Amino acid sequence: MPAQTVRAILAANDRGGYTVPNNRVYPFQWNWDSAFVAMGFALLDEDRAFTELERLFEAQWPDGMVPHIVFHVDAEGYYPGPEHWGTPATAPRSSGITQPPVAASAAWRIVEAARDRVAAEARARALLPKLFASHAWWHEVRDPDGSGLVRVVNPWETGRDNSPEWDAPLAAVVPTVSVGHLRQDNKRVDPKERPTDDFYNRVMTLVTAARATGWDNRRIAVESAFRVCDIGIQSILIRADRDLAALARALAEPGMAARLEAWADRSAAALAGLVAPDGSWRSKDLVSGRLADASVSAGFLPLYARAASQAEADAAAARFRAWAGRVARMVPSTDPGDPRFDPHRYWRGPVWSVVNFMIADGFAHYGHDDIAARIRRDTGQLTTRHGFAEYFDPVTGAPLGGRDFSWTAAIALLWNLVGVDQPVGGESDPPAA
Ligand code: DGY
Repeated sequence: MPAQTVRAILAANDRGGYTVPNNRVYPFQWNWDSAFVAMGFALLDEDRAFTELERLFEAQWPDGMVPHIVFHVDAEGYYPGPEHWGTPATAPRSSGITQPPVAASAAWRIVEAARDRVAAEARARALLPKLFASHAWWHEVRDPDGSGLVRVVNPWETGRDNSPEWDAPLAAVVPTVSVGHLRQDNKRVDPKERPTDDFYNRVMTLVTAARATGWDNRRIAVESAFRVCDIGIQSILIRADRDLAALARALAEPGMAARLEAWADRSAAALAGLVAPDGSWRSKDLVSGRLADASVSAGFLPLYARAASQAEADAAAARFRAWAGRVARMVPSTDPGDPRFDPHRYWRGPVWSVVNFMIADGFAHYGHDDIAARIRRDTGQLTTRHGFAEYFDPVTGAPLGGRDFSWTAAIALLWNLVGVDQPVGGESDPPAA
């Protein structure tokens, strides 16, 4: 995989300071996609990396929320577009929900490794209050009772849209709209690789209800019919709090750093309430009070947060090995032993490079270097053999979803995946389905 290809993908998806995930399926700026893309860009061009984050934060709401989609310019081919969200955001227009808060970790990573540290700190200093406001929003607006468990109000916020974790909480959302005919995604990608119409009806019911409040985030956080603590966001936020605290310290803002560390400590302590009887970390439905009945790859992310004990990390390594016995390519998004595991359908089974990147980081931190190396090798083989797909079939390796995907290219850059395309340990992919 020549580095040139990675550059070509990022260049083709560049819209002038921000990057679309993929031109065909997602023609706008997406929140967590841009954070990973910024980390990748930093290896090529630190100035451009910061611009990616700055363009995202142009859309920050007055209350601190960073929306999940920024509609900088009109584009055809995506539902729901700005007219369906009807948010008060006008310059630029945006959706009314958020996504996993990776941006602070991206900013710290770029500064820490900067070739031009002075320039990087100057850019980061301008972003710092905005990043801090976004973390305050999570810990205050999205944790109204101060429990340490932050909540999401729509499955799209988790980034793992149709994960089986959301089946039970979504079943309690009575659909009031029918939107299947408006969808564009399943006309651009094989419908077997996308969420169902029933899923879209329920999430757009949540959007409709949120819109009826006038997009009042404090009300939505307590009134939404879908209120879930997502183990992915909970973990990513703890890590991002710590990374932002490190950035604040580097920029001589100790007061900010102390607030962030206190939030991170509270949220890390609350993880104890998310452990299932089998020891895995789960998401929690805050409406029913039940832990999710699905074990998913995001359940490894407390290691990325550095919020696990060594014994918990070792138990996670044993779970990883059990999963690895059932699929050819790690890490499937859903436990491959779960009857709902579907190797093709979006977040119900496929492998995602960005999640792999975070899971490997977590295992490496706890000394499980063999697992980290296995994940990097699998990701490298998937991308070098099958291209920069949005996601991959963990059984056959087949590329799925959109192609020439920005964040898949960014992870290839970050992991320097050139040269890991040789089959290792006798494994090889069967022909793509
Ligand atoms: C989509 O449209 O599938 C996105 O994941 C929503 O953010």
